Amino acid sequence: MTDPRLADLARRLPDLRLLTDAGDLEHYGRDWTRRWTPAPLAIALPASVEEVQGIVHWANEQKVAIVPSGGRTGLSGGAVAAHGELVLSLERMNRVVGFDAVDRTLTVQPGIVLETVHEAARGHGLIYPVDFAARGSCSIGGTIATNAGGIRVIRYGNTREWIAGLKVVAGNGELLDLNRGLIKNSSGYDLRQLMIGSEGTLGIVVEATLRLTDPPPASQVMLLALPNMDALMRVFALFRARLSLQAFEFFTDVALKHVLAHGAQRAIEGDHPYYVVTEFEAADERAQEAALAAFEQGVEQGAISDGVIAQSDAQAAALWRLREGITESLAPHKPYKNDVSVRIGALPAFLHDMQSLLGREYPHIDVVWFGHIGDGNLHINVLKPESLSDADFIAQCEHVTKLLADTLQRHGGSISAEHGIGLVKRAYLESTRSAAEIALMRGVRQVFDPNGILNPGKLFV
Ligand code: LAC
Ligand code: ZN
Repeated sequence: MTDPRLADLARRLPDLRLLTDAGDLEHYGRDWTRRWTPAPLAIALPASVEEVQGIVHWANEQKVAIVPSGGRTGLSGGAVAAHGELVLSLERMNRVVGFDAVDRTLTVQPGIVLETVHEAARGHGLIYPVDFAARGSCSIGGTIATNAGGIRVIRYGNTREWIAGLKVVAGNGELLDLNRGLIKNSSGYDLRQLMIGSEGTLGIVVEATLRLTDPPPASQVMLLALPNMDALMRVFALFRARLSLQAFEFFTDVALKHVLAHGAQRAIEGDHPYYVVTEFEAADERAQEAALAAFEQGVEQGAISDGVIAQSDAQAAALWRLREGITESLAPHKPYKNDVSVRIGALPAFLHDMQSLLGREYPHIDVVWFGHIGDGNLHINVLKPESLSDADFIAQCEHVTKLLADTLQRHGGSISAEHGIGLVKRAYLESTRSAAEIALMRGVRQVFDPNGILNPGKLFV
């Protein structure tokens, strides 16, 4: 431990696990963005709230920046440590702390993996409904830091809806116990909600109390092929009017090409420009007939070209894989990612403008669209052509993102629907938030973290 600041940390917290090997610095210093070269000072793996607090006190005194770190599956650079920060990994704080059957809450440490939360909830006959493809590796703390959305938002909302209480170590080292599981609490500012989506810039979540709910009735999964983009919104309106939707997700033929090359199974023959995976409640014959009627009506209207309905859990999983496997299948192509949203009602006009913008600006580049169309949320992944250098590619994408941000602003949308701002989108925050809002956000950060030690450089330029 040659760095005197680290020697001081080790002296203050003799049991704290600290890593400084080159391999560990690289592993813990990056997320899924792969754009920045990891260069943290060290990795701390606290095992208790007291150790987290001790690290924050030390960081304030030594003026060392902290990057809070969960599963590092983020796509916006929020957990990247490229400037000598201390990575504070919560992976050892990964236990279920308790279950309350009357309150129907599960209290967990922040490093627990989302899928483990799902299993724990199911073990009590309930569900934690926030769900998405990274479930097997993302941490609950990370989902809280980004207010994660995912594939069930259309039915259950974002992470924000499911957090009954949070224990947080603020940037000034104070331990806060926020909302304490209360359903009703009209006692001033809801600091718990302020923490959710703050991307590690206000405090470090050290414990979360999650609301659970009843499992949904039996559902069915359908894959639809659509002839054009207009059909997307028509089919959505048709299905939403007749069915209880659990999910309504779309992807394009370009996304399909990549996910099939990555090992997924084709489920519909022929060339179709757009696809939808939808899951809906189908507990009885009436609900199943309603689904068939909606499908047939879509076909009659020319909005659906083809479709399959899963006949088994295995087939349902195979259909879901066509949608959920996309991000992994694109990773080797170093995608530049946009994650945008508009109101559902504004989607048709926005999609029209966006399509012409992207067609014009990326004429010879593969652009993959997919996402949570039923929530007004699109993922746009631009794939790097081999002929372009990394730097030229990013410069081009940043130019187009500025234009996209202007388009979003005109349509009242957001530059980050669910992945967070992090490093990737901080230059475009002004397209979604007014100058007055950003000034207040900076003021809030100053109150919670006066020395600016928590995740500096993220969220704000
Ligand atoms: C998804 C991730 C990328 O929707 O948000 O697959
Ligand atoms: Zn998504």
